[in-house]
Amino acid sequence: MKVLLTGGAGYVGSVVAHDLLSRGHEVRVVDMLLYGGQGLLGLYQDERFSFLGGDLRSAQLVELALHGMDAVVHLAAIVGDPACARQPELARAVNLDASLQLFRASCAREVERFVFASTCSNYGRMSNPSVWLTEESELRPVSLYAQTKVEVEQAFLSPSAASRPVTTVLRFATVFGVSPRMRFDLTVNEFTMELLTKRKLTIYGAQFWRPYLHVRDAARAIGLVLESPLDKIANQAFNVGDANQNYQKGALAELIRAQIGNHARIERVEKTEDPRDYRVSFDKIQRGLGFQITRTVEQGVQELIEAISSGVITECDHSRYRN
Ligand SMILES: NC(=O)c1ccc[n+]([C@@H]2O[C@H](COP(=O)([O-])OP(=O)(O)OC[C@H]3O[C@@H](n4cnc5c(N)ncnc54)[C@H](O)[C@@H]3O)[C@@H](O)[C@H]2O)c1
Repeated sequence: MKVLLTGGAGYVGSVVAHDLLSRGHEVRVVDMLLYGGQGLLGLYQDERFSFLGGDLRSAQLVELALHGMDAVVHLAAIVGDPACARQPELARAVNLDASLQLFRASCAREVERFVFASTCSNYGRMSNPSVWLTEESELRPVSLYAQTKVEVEQAFLSPSAASRPVTTVLRFATVFGVSPRMRFDLTVNEFTMELLTKRKLTIYGAQFWRPYLHVRDAARAIGLVLESPLDKIANQAFNVGDANQNYQKGALAELIRAQIGNHARIERVEKTEDPRDYRVSFDKIQRGLGFQITRTVEQGVQELIEAISSGVITECDHSRYRN
């Protein structure tokens, strides 16, 4: 397939690009390089890779990018609650308006499949902590970031869009692991880095639940969806992750400290009002598409420890590692 990958220079996107090429697809990345282009460097070896630099808010760029493509994987966004809160207008223009423009243009073209990266943050706060959240659960976004994702999901999955590509929404758990564009503002990566390099970590609201997913498995899920029979993925939302990788923040920090094997201090600041508290079921993607993760949180932590301690990643506090 010829795949247009938006946000391919990002933390998840740069791993997706490698994965799609290794599956034999052609990959055209479009990205405005908000955090630099380092994530793309390893891709130039492959002649099936190409790059189009620019901003998806431009209708002209979208037309150019879509030319000849069979599928679109849409990852580009202003990602995370802090980044969206800092620039709300930009967040709405990119996450919402530009996504809708890309989708409409894809409908008008011969694009067969459209995959949208959404997030389990859309669930917000569990109303009943004893119940696991499924794709049918109510979406209760509590940030502008999640709000824009929910609005786009609703537009993409709305039955009113008559002629359109086969559309699939993937609600990813919070991602972790090493990527060519590293991020240390994601929980597992951040906790590991802080405990390893500063021997100190402050956790706000140790009791809150969240699911986690290795970046390589996030990429594999996208490849799987692109290669699944259309009737299994058409107009569907899937949570992407694994039930056993749901952790409370406090337990996650303890697990990481035990792996590092030092006496780092974990300070717990009580917080009763974290709006994001969700424990998620991943039965649908496991049963429907046969998706299984290949790396647990423990394995990802090990990989992060190795990459930092061996000097492969340096200056972990640098702003380029945060959105
Ligand atoms: N990282 C996670 O834990 C996580 C979890 C759930 C969902 N997601 C989703 O996965 C996707 C990728 O996340 P990430 O962690 O790789 O983020 P990232 O910030 O590392 O990557 C986003 C990329 O999009 C590009 N981009 C932003 N606005 C653009 C525009 N207007 N035109 C062209 N390119 C633009 C940026 O330059 C960047 O390279 C996002 O849609 C995010 O919502 C991520």
